[in-house]
Amino acid sequence: MKHLLSTEDLSLANAIRILDTAEEMAAVGDREVKKLPALRGRTVVNLFFEDSTRTRISFEAAAKRLSADVINFAAKGSSVSKGESLKDTAQTLAAMGADAVVIRHWASGAPHRLAATDWIDAAVINAGDGTHEHPTQALLDAFTMRRHWSQLAGSASIGADLKGMRVAIAGDVLHSRVARSNVWLLRTLGADVTLVAPPTLLPIGVEHWPCKVSYNLDDTLAQGVDAVMMLRVQGERMNASFFPSTREYSRRWGFDDNRLRALDSLGLKDTIIMHPGPMNRGLEISSAAADSPRSTVLAQVRNGVSVRMATLYLLLSGDTREPAASAGAAT
Ligand code: CP
Repeated sequence: MKHLLSTEDLSLANAIRILDTAEEMAAVGDREVKKLPALRGRTVVNLFFEDSTRTRISFEAAAKRLSADVINFAAKGSSVSKGESLKDTAQTLAAMGADAVVIRHWASGAPHRLAATDWIDAAVINAGDGTHEHPTQALLDAFTMRRHWSQLAGSASIGADLKGMRVAIAGDVLHSRVARSNVWLLRTLGADVTLVAPPTLLPIGVEHWPCKVSYNLDDTLAQGVDAVMMLRVQGERMNASFFPSTREYSRRWGFDDNRLRALDSLGLKDTIIMHPGPMNRGLEISSAAADSPRSTVLAQVRNGVSVRMATLYLLLSGDTREPAASAGAAT
């Protein structure tokens, strides 16, 4: 594995390898060890053409905890405003000695372009490209689920995959790179995924994705779910004609206080509520749900550092072999 561009082409063996390595990174953190020397002398460039809080900061924290040097680049305030291209920007930063480039870009496919050309000779990590993919978000979501369900089962060791787990991903699927990456990764890990959205907020061709599709959140909850992942309504990408009124959206597709209470009456006492952040409180999720004991929102942020440490470590430590597919056929 030289790059991490998508979860669609991530094998089961490599996914489990990242999740298991992230467990080791988290265990080091639990022992209050602030830094590991693993990437001393290596340089990680954070190349962000779109805004970010969680992803950019957690990649920076992850690289620093592995003793790498970090260069942060934000398009705002850079020579991109003077028309500098992706190629020239990437090559300029690579000339400063980048071993890994973590890229977030508004254009779907930009990280793939960077990895496919000979513009730079660095590992490329997709930190979110347009409406396409956000693989480390899906990995940290899977890590959070795996940990939660292993603890619930009272198991001393973390289960390898998510076989049989029922996950509903609800909201603005059309614009969500988080949804796409989660569907592919959760499928690979054996979970049973249902997308829930208004018909206008589902992408063309969704019927070919490896998941079920529903327009009704209450029906999906009533059938039983182990996790419900609420997606941000992406106002900045939204065509107003796709969007029901805010009130109707919240009532029909938001995780509101009534749905929070309904989990108890449906007997779903262990169901967790997830959100990748940033949240539109009162729209796709109520404050009561976001702050409830069922919410894993902050655990997801915390786990993001361990997952990004694992990703950087595996890509930069030099072992790019495909691991043996011990947990089944690689996909
Ligand atoms: N979840 C996520 O990607 O958040 P940021 O946009 O803050 O990085």
